[in-house]
Amino acid sequence: MTRSQVALLGLGLLFMLLLYVGLPGPPEQTSWLWGDPNVTILAGLTPGSSPIFYREVLPLHRARRVDVVLLHGKAFNSRTWEQLGTLQLLAQRGYRAVALDLPGFGNSAPSKEASTEAGRAQLLERVLQDLEVQNVVLVSPSLSGCYALPFLMQGHHQLHGFVPIAPASTQNYTQEQFQAVKTPTLILYGELDRVLAWESLRQLRHLPNHSVVKLRDAGHACYLHKPQDFHLVLLGFLDHLP
Ligand SMILES: *[C@@H]1O[C@H](CO)[C@@H](O)[C@H](O)[C@H]1NC(C)=O
Ligand SMILES: *[C@@H]1O[C@H](CO)[C@@H](O)[C@H](O)[C@H]1NC(C)=O
Ligand SMILES: *[C@@H]1O[C@H](CO)[C@@H](O)[C@H](O)[C@H]1NC(C)=O
Repeated sequence: MTRSQVALLGLGLLFMLLLYVGLPGPPEQTSWLWGDPNVTILAGLTPGSSPIFYREVLPLHRARRVDVVLLHGKAFNSRTWEQLGTLQLLAQRGYRAVALDLPGFGNSAPSKEASTEAGRAQLLERVLQDLEVQNVVLVSPSLSGCYALPFLMQGHHQLHGFVPIAPASTQNYTQEQFQAVKTPTLILYGELDRVLAWESLRQLRHLPNHSVVKLRDAGHACYLHKPQDFHLVLLGFLDHLP
């Protein structure tokens, strides 16, 4: 080998070493959009007279301190969180997560109890008990607010965290009622949602411990339009809960 060939070889090796050491790995979130096929999604019905259908994932590795309960909007059901990969992602990240079909949606039969505010709060409370979820973080988009809000007002001490996504029925409660709720809250909404997002934000910002995240270029169902951003923000909130 001539000296110039040796020099070239050395340069090549140095370049490869730099590539190996200096470049960041592939971004972790590229796989987040599609459900991890390795996560098993369990399904079941709660016991009792008006059973509620649910999909559930158990943590793949070490378990976190909180369980995540996902409700849904009017055009959706528990399957949405499977299709979006949210359930699988939460399992991967060490969370137990349960997505419910609200009464009259998906595989849950309609329920008379759901016709009153008190009934909806009771129903949700019973489902959480039946599922034996611990340190619940409740994720509540849109229509599901008519379950989550009455439950929050009377049962917030049972919640470890609250993630309202432009929920319905915030206007039914007073500023004082919101101020009494100490639950750490992540208020999420889509930038393009000009109706329910703003109306709910006006009320939700009275919650004493909240942060607000607006997802850019996303509408009312912002988690569908920007699933990656949604997942990042949700995990950030969950991972930092005390
Ligand atoms: C699923 O598990 C297999 C075997 O452990 C692994 O090779 C593969 O990368 C996993 N898939 C995902 C998407 O994590
Ligand atoms: C809000 O309050 C009104 C009047 O008190 C009641 O008729 C309505 O059912 C409530 N809506 C929800 C979603 O709880
Ligand atoms: C507010 O919520 C955060 C979690 O989002 C928590 O770490 C913090 O302790 C809470 N602050 C108070 C005063 O409760």
